[in-house]
Amino acid sequence: MHIRIHTLSLACALALGTNAALADVKVGFMLPYSGTYAALGQAIENGFKMYVDEQGGTLAGQKIQYFQVDDESDPSKATDNANRLIKRDQVDILIGTVHSGVAMAMAKAATGSDTTLIIANAGAGALTGPLCNPAVFRTSFTNWQPAFAMGPVALDKGYKTAVSVTWNYAAGNEAIEGFKESFEEGGGKVVKELKLPFPNVEFQPILTEIAALKPDVVFTFFAGGGAVKFVQDYAAAGLKTPLLGSGFLTDGTLKAQGQSAQGLLTTLHYADGLNTPKDNAFRTAYSQRYPNMAPDVYAVQGYDAGQLLAAGLEAVEGDVQQKGKMRDAMRAATIDSPRGSLTFSKAGNPIQDIYLRQVDGEQNISLGVAVEKLADPARGCKL
Ligand code: BEZ
Repeated sequence: MHIRIHTLSLACALALGTNAALADVKVGFMLPYSGTYAALGQAIENGFKMYVDEQGGTLAGQKIQYFQVDDESDPSKATDNANRLIKRDQVDILIGTVHSGVAMAMAKAATGSDTTLIIANAGAGALTGPLCNPAVFRTSFTNWQPAFAMGPVALDKGYKTAVSVTWNYAAGNEAIEGFKESFEEGGGKVVKELKLPFPNVEFQPILTEIAALKPDVVFTFFAGGGAVKFVQDYAAAGLKTPLLGSGFLTDGTLKAQGQSAQGLLTTLHYADGLNTPKDNAFRTAYSQRYPNMAPDVYAVQGYDAGQLLAAGLEAVEGDVQQKGKMRDAMRAATIDSPRGSLTFSKAGNPIQDIYLRQVDGEQNISLGVAVEKLADPARGCKL
């Protein structure tokens, strides 16, 4: 009887094109499904699953089994949440997360248990800097990358003084540092750095201060629900000072921001209107599958996490236990991303073009590449 079942499952596996000797690959999503970053987390999962489904639900012949935890963008719960996936569900691969502070704890849990982690958003520089690790990959960006690219754009427009505004946590602080680095290198001056705690959206005192300071320009990092409110409040305050941002300010948010976002300039590693065959195919498929969501940068990052895992699994013929060989193949992969061709630094961070975009209706239209093939300096990474 036992032999008969085995023979049947082998026949099934052959019909499905899977390797019956291997267990399914277990993928754990640790993402925010509630709070200010909820839509971002959902888009990452959507993109990843769309890629796997396009391959027939298997990667390198192995079926993918999913597990999920809502991390609520709460760093204080991050270690427990990561361990739910690592220890309880025994996942092979962790995908996550959005919030930099949560990702720091997640990476510690991943490396401590030798679990492969693909960061599909959080930009904390340390993860691909001093804490870089062969088990950790990123399909998104460092917070420094898109912000650094905005400095020359601001200088080009003749702006000499800037005020920065952000949430006081790793993502905001590192974005402001990135902008400041290139803006001040070129002769500009950030005259004041305004901050409020994450995920606070009481922007009135800050807007009053900007009106009094009268800088040439304001540079900002906000994302998700907070970005929607900031752009609406900025427009309602009637400030004449131009507003620039890392592209998260207007990505996945334009439907809600409406008129208040029109004309805004941002820099990011994705844009609308790229009009390449790969991006057009991605956008058509995503819009058909998720008609209520725009094909935004977060969906692209999730999709590319699927592509990166596929590259690793193909190198080991689906055997996820061959971790070293799989990770080497992932580091060496070139991904045909909707954003453009994507390679990885030694630290595992994308080397990518950063686009200058302008809001037009519900789109962040590309005005061209602001910085080509921008690599994070990976300061402190010893790999
Ligand atoms: C971060 O926490 O790293 C982050 C969150 C949302 C958008 C971009 C970065």
